[in-house]
Amino acid sequence: MTPLGTLALLALIGVGGAQTDCSYLGLLTHLNLTTAGNALQTAVRPVRNWTTTTQVKLDLILYGILGVDEKSQTVTTHVWIQMLWTNEFLTWTPSGFCGINHVLVPRSGVWLPDVVIAEDASDSGSIFNSPVVRVSSRGKMVTTMRQRLTSTCLFVLYLFPFDMQHCNITFTTMTSGVNSISLGTCSSEELLTRSSESHMVTRGEWQLETINITHVAGNWTTGLRERLVYTITISRKPMLYVIIFIVPLFYFVLLDVASFFINEARGEKLSFKVTVLLSISVLLLILKDLLPSTEDGLPMIAIYCCVIFVLVGLSLLEAMLVSFLIDLDSFCKNPEAPEGEAVQLEADRPDATELHGAGGTPEKSSPPLSRPGDLLELILQEVKKVGQEARGRDKGEKRPGRYRRLAEIIDCVFFFIYLLCICSFLMYMLLRWVSQIW
Ligand SMILES: *[C@@H]1O[C@H](CO)[C@@H](O)[C@H](O)[C@H]1NC(C)=O
Ligand SMILES: *[C@@H]1O[C@H](CO)[C@@H](O)[C@H](O)[C@H]1NC(C)=O
Repeated sequence: MTPLGTLALLALIGVGGAQTDCSYLGLLTHLNLTTAGNALQTAVRPVRNWTTTTQVKLDLILYGILGVDEKSQTVTTHVWIQMLWTNEFLTWTPSGFCGINHVLVPRSGVWLPDVVIAEDASDSGSIFNSPVVRVSSRGKMVTTMRQRLTSTCLFVLYLFPFDMQHCNITFTTMTSGVNSISLGTCSSEELLTRSSESHMVTRGEWQLETINITHVAGNWTTGLRERLVYTITISRKPMLYVIIFIVPLFYFVLLDVASFFINEARGEKLSFKVTVLLSISVLLLILKDLLPSTEDGLPMIAIYCCVIFVLVGLSLLEAMLVSFLIDLDSFCKNPEAPEGEAVQLEADRPDATELHGAGGTPEKSSPPLSRPGDLLELILQEVKKVGQEARGRDKGEKRPGRYRRLAEIIDCVFFFIYLLCICSFLMYMLLRWVSQIW
């Protein structure tokens, strides 16, 4: 302000009388921008004939993609917006003002088009308007605006994490009539895309693909305002999600298939399957935090997770059924088993008494050391008896009961159906994914 002030002072002191005024202040005075009466300058659209349409040109450059929130369906970007229009009253001949081509005037002193972004959901604190407007001698006005723009965007998450999103940033006038303001751009789409790509510092997990500009004409009859739509296409970098979702889930399914080969040792198989199921549910919880809960068009990854959860859950239930059947089998055999044992015990007892008796007489007659042959014979008999018993028990146990056989058949059939289901489902998902992406 000081140079301007000095110039103003000079202008006031003595140079005022001269024909040419080289100060900005002189220019501003000439333009009627210094007096308090310039309120009219800001109030109305600066055209000499009211039917003239003011052309507003808007350029948007993307400086960064700060965040994408799938749950609230918003995307936060850092944008610079440049706005150009013509003010028919603010013109001068540069030669009359020592060749001043352009001047910066305060924003509050001139008329500004009321162009807004329709999708804007950011708070006012995130907008920074340049405090001045640059005016050229032919009345061209240029102002820039920097904004941390949080815009709403309808995400299509069907292909998550291989998705590509198209987010619209729509410029429209807030209250101006249909024919008073028309919107356009200065730079081409390619130039804006290129400069955005070169300026962009933060992109997060997103890659800027293209910026497309669509111009939607206003309509007198429907009252639809003219719109300038910047469609920003961004694609997600999917590697992280492949590593934390798709691969672990695939791996869990493999583990679950492999668990069919674990021996039916009490509970071990069951607890393994429960662990796998819990691990999958942890992934489901993480997924729940990422995706919005809109039922229509469930993302494929959610289907993938759910189907795998259900399949592993079914295999857990089947393992429980098999375990129950085996338990039932041994339970059905149990009533006879204690009887047999009791009989054997009873049978053992006389044997034992006999044995004692038999052992007692030689003991009485002579010390055991003197008759080692008898003792050996006894031991041999005992060993034989034990062997026979063991063989008999083995035979009894090895011959599977009805339920056990049923369990084995169920296990086998289920395993093949399960394997078939999983293979066909994984193939289906793979084909769908691949066909959707390419
Ligand atoms: C400035 O205002 C005066 C009267 O208020 C008017 O005569 C003059 O044309 C105006 N100048 C410009 C550049 O509009
Ligand atoms: C974005 O704007 C284009 C052009 O007007 C339109 O065809 C498309 O449906 C819009 N997309 C969204 C998500 O609103």
